[in-house]
Parts: sequence; structure tokens; C-alpha cells
Amino acid sequence: MLTTFIAVALFAAFSLHYLYKHLFNTYGYRLPLPPGTLGWPYIGETFELYSQDPNVFFAAKQKKYGSIFKSHILGCPCVMISSPAAAKFVLVTKSHLFKPTFPASKQRMLGNQAIFFHQGDYHQKLRKLVLRAFMPEAIKARVSDIEALALHSLNSCEGRLITTFHEMKTYTFNVALLSIFGKDEILYREDLKRCYYVLEQGYNSMPVNLPGTLFHKSMKARKELAQILAKIIATRRQTKAESNDLLGSFMGGSEGLTDEQIADNVIGVIFAARDTTASVLTWIVKYLGENPAVLQAVTKEQEAVMGGEQGLSWADTKKMPLTTRVIQETLRVATILSFTFREAVEDVEYEGYVIPKGWKVLPLFRNIHHSPDFFPEPEKFDPSRFEASPKPNTFMPFGSGTHACPGNELAKLEILVLLHHLTTKYRWRKVGTQNGIQYGPFALPQNGLPIRLARRDEKEALL
Ligand code: HEM
Repeated sequence: MLTTFIAVALFAAFSLHYLYKHLFNTYGYRLPLPPGTLGWPYIGETFELYSQDPNVFFAAKQKKYGSIFKSHILGCPCVMISSPAAAKFVLVTKSHLFKPTFPASKQRMLGNQAIFFHQGDYHQKLRKLVLRAFMPEAIKARVSDIEALALHSLNSCEGRLITTFHEMKTYTFNVALLSIFGKDEILYREDLKRCYYVLEQGYNSMPVNLPGTLFHKSMKARKELAQILAKIIATRRQTKAESNDLLGSFMGGSEGLTDEQIADNVIGVIFAARDTTASVLTWIVKYLGENPAVLQAVTKEQEAVMGGEQGLSWADTKKMPLTTRVIQETLRVATILSFTFREAVEDVEYEGYVIPKGWKVLPLFRNIHHSPDFFPEPEKFDPSRFEASPKPNTFMPFGSGTHACPGNELAKLEILVLLHHLTTKYRWRKVGTQNGIQYGPFALPQNGLPIRLARRDEKEALL
């Protein structure tokens, strides 16, 4: 009885103290915290954020408090920022004061040694190795292999009712494996796919590692993935094969990584490469379908670049300015990564406010991309707005600074190649009337955009 009383009293005192600090902002800092509210003790404003379209939450806060405000979500106090200057401060100029941060369960699932979770020397070393495999010089040689994957994907969808996102995920997964393992990928594709599909199902599950749970199955699949990777690495070591793919870069020279570091980063790159690029492709299919004049103009541009005997070349992909603007505008309107997470490593002063050590900081890419100050009529899909370059730090679909996306050239290349064949050979019709957006965690047309796809010369089949 007495212990219960003491526990209740302690809990009440702790909650009051917490509430007092949150309500009256008495953290004892020299500067005030940014404006905003922190919601309920412990729960914060998580419910407000996730019970509606998250953009409504961000937009309402920004309207009320301006471009820097505090909140409390997923158990953490945080500062949200939505001005280009603040995003540059956090991601570029003072990036050493803001470390990347992920929930521990997600980190465990992807692998603790993966690039996303690090700063400093180890991060720099990884970036160098990743960029070596994904810079234009390296991916130039892969255009025909990527084209073969695009043609295979589109052929397999012909005449069927498909879920666009699902099919695009298969394509982007195959391109990711090709860039990681080179031509060897075909040998391991099915095993890797099987394990990765189980792994990802646990990504958004409760992190309870008990037999029968999704999380447990996912961790088991992760182990199996690491075993397959160890086998691939051992075979490469035996044959001493040199290769300019990502695995070759990770294993190469004096900078080579351990097997565990390689496994964590290979899984990490698949995670970073697949759903992101597939979401963007899905949005492009949606926007082209809704804007016949743009589709016609893109088709005309692509017909002028029909590729030689050998199919498309790297040079051909540089003759697609309008298609490139369609990709840029899609990246802006859809902003599939609405925000990212950092954590202040010390108390940081910004614009007269303090961002306390340990608080999360969220640059809100979507708010910046949808600001009428930088993009007039921001909700309108209008690729021509990219005929002029956007103002600095207003367009960051691939992030910015130390952790900016090293796969952006590959992503753009695989999208261009697929669009070339899609627009010149096919037409499609959306099935169903749903028009919403789902987040999982990337923004996606509802239900993954079900469509029916037919050859252009058989498009009556779509009626
Ligand atoms: C259109 C598709 C893509 C989009 C929109 C995208 C977006 C992003 C963004 C915004 C970041 C920075 C996140 C942050 O600062 O917290 C990032 C990081 C990253 N992306 Fe991408 N990405 C895409 C495709 C790819 C592809 C195809 C690959 C691999 C081939 C890739 C590999 C990575 C890696 C490894 C990182 C972490 C970099 C680091 O921490 O230093 N991404 N991506």
C-alpha cells in the first residue's frame, strides 16, 4: 500500500514538474526555446501529428509560429524548421552540431554500421566508397543493363491490372542489386529478394523480438541476408574478381570494410534506393496520366531520342530536358521524404533561440517545397517552373550537405530510362477513384496507384 502511494506521489510530482517546465518554458537557458507547444507529458503531440495528414499539422504550426517552432513527438522534444536558411544551417554549415538519429529498433534492423547513423571519419570513408560506385563515371557503363531491366518490367505489366508502386519496386530493387553486385546479381536475386521482403515487413512493426512477432521474423531474415552476403563476398575473394560495383568498392584496396560493415551498408543502400525511387516513379505515372499535354510533350522528346542499335546511351539521357523537368517537379510536389531527423549534440543557438542538446531537429522539406514564396501556386504540377533554377536551398529532394543522397544520379538515370520506354511504347488508365496520399514512410498515391497498362497501338483496350 505504502509503496503504491509513494509510486503514485512520485509519478504525480514528476508529471507536474514536466508540465510546469513545458508550460512555462523554464529550462534555464539563456535564450528562449522556439515558440510552439509540447502537448501532453510523454505523449506530446504525436497523436495530433499522426491522426491526420502530417502536412496539415506542419502547415498549421508554421502558420501560427513561423518557420521555427517546437513540438514533442514519438517521445522526444523537437524543433521543426521550414526556412531554407535554417535547413542550410542544420544540414550544411553546422552539420557537425546535428547528428543523424533513428529509433534504435530501426537502426538494429538496418545494421548499426550503416552509413546513415554515422558522423565523422567513418561516415566520410563510407561516403567515399558509396560515391565511387554511384558517380556518373561508374553508372555510365550500366545504362544498357538498366534498360534491359526497364524493358523486362514493362513487358511483364503489359495488358494487366497492376499496382504501379509494386511493379516499380521490383524494377528499382533489380537496379539496386545490379549496382551493388554487378552482373552477379542474377545469381542471388531471388534469395536476396525473399529475405529482404521479410525484413522490410518488420520495419514499421512493434520492436518486440519474441518468436512469432513480425519484428522477430524480420531480424531472422536479416541474419539470413547477412549469410548470403558473406557467401557472395567469400566467392569474390576466392576469384579475386575486380569490379566497379558497390561491393567491389566496399571490398577494394586498403580501405576495405569488414564483412559486417559491408552487410549493414548493402542492406542500407537497398533500403535507401528501392522504395524512394519507386515512389517517385509512381507519382510520375500519376502526374503524366493527369496531364495529357505534358505526356504528349514528353513522348515527343523521347521519340526524338530513339537510341541506336545498342539501345539508349548515357549521352541520350542527357538529351531529355523536359523529362528531367517532369522528374524535378514530381520530386517537388510529391516530396516523398517530407522531413528528416537530426539531434543537437550540444545546446545550439539559432536566430535568438536555443535548440537544447538532445532535442531532435526536423528540417521540413515538404513545407519548403510547398512555400508560395519560392514556388508560386505550389500545389500545381507545372514542370516549366524548372526552366529557371530554383533559389538556393529551396529545392532539396535529395537532402543537402554531409548526408545528401549519394544515389541521386542513379535514381535520375533509372527513372529516365524507364520513362523513355513507358512514354514511347505504352499508355495507361488509372483504376478506381481514390485520390489520397498514404505515408509508409514515403509519400505515395493511395493503394500504390492501380492502373491498366497497354501498348500504345492497342490503347483501345484501356477504354
Ligand atoms: C528518387 C529517389 C531518392 C530520393 C528522393 C532520395 C532521397 C534522399 C535524401 C533526402 C537523403 C538524405 C537524408 C538525410 O539527410 O537525412 C538520402 C540519403 C541517402 N540516399 Fe537517397 N534518395 C533516393 C534514391 C537513392 C538511391 C537510388 C540510392 C542508392 C543507390 C540512395 C542512397 C542513399 C544513401 C546511402 C543515403 C545516406 C547518405 C549519408 O547518410 O551520407 N538514395 N536520400
